[in-house]
Amino acid sequence: MKTLLKLSAAAAALCVAAAVPAQSNAPIKVGLMLPYTGTYAALGTAIENGFKLYVQEQGGKLAGREIQYFKVDDESEPSKGTDNANKLIKRDQVDVLVGTVHSGVALAMARAAKESNTLLIVPNAGADAITGPMCAPNIVRSSFSNWQPGYATGVLMAQRGHKRAMTITWNYAAGIETVKGFTEAFEKGGGKVVKDLTLPFPNVEFQALLTEIAAQKPDAVFAFFAGGGAVKFVKDYVAAGLNKTIPLYGSGFLTDGTLEAQGPAAQGLLTTLHYADSLDIPRNNAFRKSYALTYKANADVYAVQGYDAAQILAAGLNAAKGDLSKRDVITAAMRKVTVDSPRGKFTISAAGNPVLDMYVREAKGLNNEYRSVAVKALADPARGCKM
Ligand code: PHB
Repeated sequence: MKTLLKLSAAAAALCVAAAVPAQSNAPIKVGLMLPYTGTYAALGTAIENGFKLYVQEQGGKLAGREIQYFKVDDESEPSKGTDNANKLIKRDQVDVLVGTVHSGVALAMARAAKESNTLLIVPNAGADAITGPMCAPNIVRSSFSNWQPGYATGVLMAQRGHKRAMTITWNYAAGIETVKGFTEAFEKGGGKVVKDLTLPFPNVEFQALLTEIAAQKPDAVFAFFAGGGAVKFVKDYVAAGLNKTIPLYGSGFLTDGTLEAQGPAAQGLLTTLHYADSLDIPRNNAFRKSYALTYKANADVYAVQGYDAAQILAAGLNAAKGDLSKRDVITAAMRKVTVDSPRGKFTISAAGNPVLDMYVREAKGLNNEYRSVAVKALADPARGCKM
C-alpha cells in the first residue's frame, strides 16, 4: 500500500511537472535595430509600427509570452553595424533581432547573428547574400531580396516595349543588386541597358546625372531610391523636364511611403513591388484600417514587412509553445509558415526568403494602386546558399 501511495504521489508530481511549461515565463526580448534618423528614418518607424501592431492584435503576447522591446537607431550606417547589433545581442541579451532597412547594415547584423546564433528576422534590407551565401537556419526575411523587385520591373519595362534603358541608383548593395536583377530580366525580354549611373549613399545631388540622362536620351529610366532620397529624385526628375520624353520606372520603393511628399511629381508613375496600397483583399483592408486607427498614418510596404516579421516570429514561437530552448522547432516553423500577409499569402523559401507575387502599381493620389501581376510567385534564385 505504501509503495502504491508513493508511486501515485510520484505520478501526480510528474503530471504537475508536465502541466507547467519547462521554460520561464519571462518576457521575450525583441531587439529592434532600425534607422530612426537619416534618409530611411520613416521606413524604420513604419516597420516598428507594423511589428507592434501585430503583437498588439494578439493581446500584447506571442505564444502566451509578453514581448519586451529594446531599440537601437542604426542610422543606416554600415560602419556602426556590428557594434549596434552587439548592443542588442550582448548588452541587452535579446532573444530575437529584428532589422534592418539598409543592406550594408543588415550584412553586419547577419554576421553578428550567425556568430552568436541569435534569431534574426530581416524586415526590409534586400542584400542578396543574406539569403544567398550567408543563409542560415536562424535567419529569415519577411521582405524580399534586392534581386526580386529589380527583376520584376525589368519584366514590366521589356513588356512595355522599351529597348534602350539607363539605370540610376545609390552605389551600395541594394542599388547595385536591384539594378542587376533589373538588367537580367530587361535584357532577357529583348532590351538593352545602355548605361548605369550611380552616386554614393545617401547623396541627393542628382543634377549632373540627370544632365547625362538628357544627353543619352534612352527610351526609359529605371531607378532604385527609397525614403527621403526617393522623394528628392522624383521631384528633380520632373523639375528637369525629363518625364515629358523619357518615362521613369522604379522598383516600388521609389513611390512607397513617399507620395504625400512627392506631390504631383509622382502621379502616374508605374512601379513594381510585392505590395500595393489598394490591394483589395480582406486581409489588406483590415490591416490598413487597423494601422490608420492606431498610428493616424497610412500603411506602406515597410509597415507590412514589419507586421509580417511579427507573424513569422509568432509562427516559430507558437510551434514551440513559447519555449525558446526548442530552437530547431522555432527555426523550422519560421520557414514552413504560410504568412497571411496584407500583401497576399506567401511562403518562405528553403533559403529563408519570401516567394512573392510582384504587382504593377500606379501612383494615384496618396496610393500606389494595384494594376496587375508583373510576375507570379517570384522566388529569389538564392545563389550560393548551401544549407
Ligand atoms: C536596402 O538597403 O536593402 C533597401 C533600403 C530601402 C529600400 C529597399 C531596400 O526601400
